Parts: sequence; C-alpha cells; structure tokens
Amino acid sequence: MTKDGKRRLVLLLHGPNLNLLGERDPATYGTATLDDLVAAATAAAAEVGLELEHVQSNAEADLVEAIHGARGRCAAVIVNAGALTHYAWSLHDALDAYDGVKVELHLSNPAAREPWRSVSVLAPVVDGAIAGFKAHGYPLAVAAAARLLGEREETSP
Ligand code: DQA
Repeated sequence: MTKDGKRRLVLLLHGPNLNLLGERDPATYGTATLDDLVAAATAAAAEVGLELEHVQSNAEADLVEAIHGARGRCAAVIVNAGALTHYAWSLHDALDAYDGVKVELHLSNPAAREPWRSVSVLAPVVDGAIAGFKAHGYPLAVAAAARLLGEREETSP
C-alpha cells in the first residue's frame, strides 16, 4: 500500500516469443501458458497488497515504451525480456532510467544453455534476477519485488 492507501502497481513485462508459452519448447520453459503465468503472478501480488499490470510484446520498441510508462507510476518492474535480454541495450537504458524496483525473470536458466544466453545486458541495471524455476519463478519474483519495496519504504524518510 502507498501512504495514501492505494495498492502499489507492479508492471510485469514479457518480450518476444513468450506469447507462445505452453506450446514453445515445454521441456525448457514448462507447460504453463502466458495467461497462466500472469494469473499466478497477479494472485501472488494481491497476497502482498500489490496490483499487477501486464504487457507482452514481440517488438523491442513497445517494451521500451512500457518501461517509460512505468516511470513515476509503477513501484516495480518484473521483466522477462526473452532473447532481448541478451542484446537489447535499449532495454538496458530504459531500465536504467527507471528508478523503481527491478527484477529480471527467466523461466529457464540461461547461464546453463547456449553461451550467447549467458550474457544479460539487463543484469547491470536490475536489483536481482530469478531464473531456472519455470512457472515457480513468477511468485518468487513478486515476493522479491515486494521484499525490496518493503526495504525501500523502511529506509525512505
Ligand atoms: C527466457 C530465456 C531467453 O534466453 C529466451 O530467449 C527466452 C525465454 C526464459 O524465460 O527462460 O525467450 O527469457
């Protein structure tokens, strides 16, 4: 809750190809659909007094716009940027210019896959990352964001 009693908003952001979850490589990403994951994250957010808003796009520009739109409005961003994680410096810069809590999220463990997935250009500008727990990562990411928001509140004047 904010001081004026509103539920704080969290933006859950998904990048390219994640609209295909459920059909796409279930051995790597699990069988949950994007709708299932958003529902699980929404429920986890509600449990800790947060409200969740969701954007998925296959276009880098839309994701940059969504992060800009979170500035001054959302308390946290949880981002699974898909393959853009590994090379989209525009997302790095957009997140750098966003001063809320930032959690990077992946269904798989990119570090245990092809070498090109080991680099995250988002890593230097997020608070932390959750990867490799498939659908279980979504409530974990919400809990991590809530925890960090709580810590920030304790230290704010
Ligand atoms: C992913 C990992 C990325 O390397 C990949 O390109 C994806 C999904 C994950 O959630 O595990 O699209 O972000």
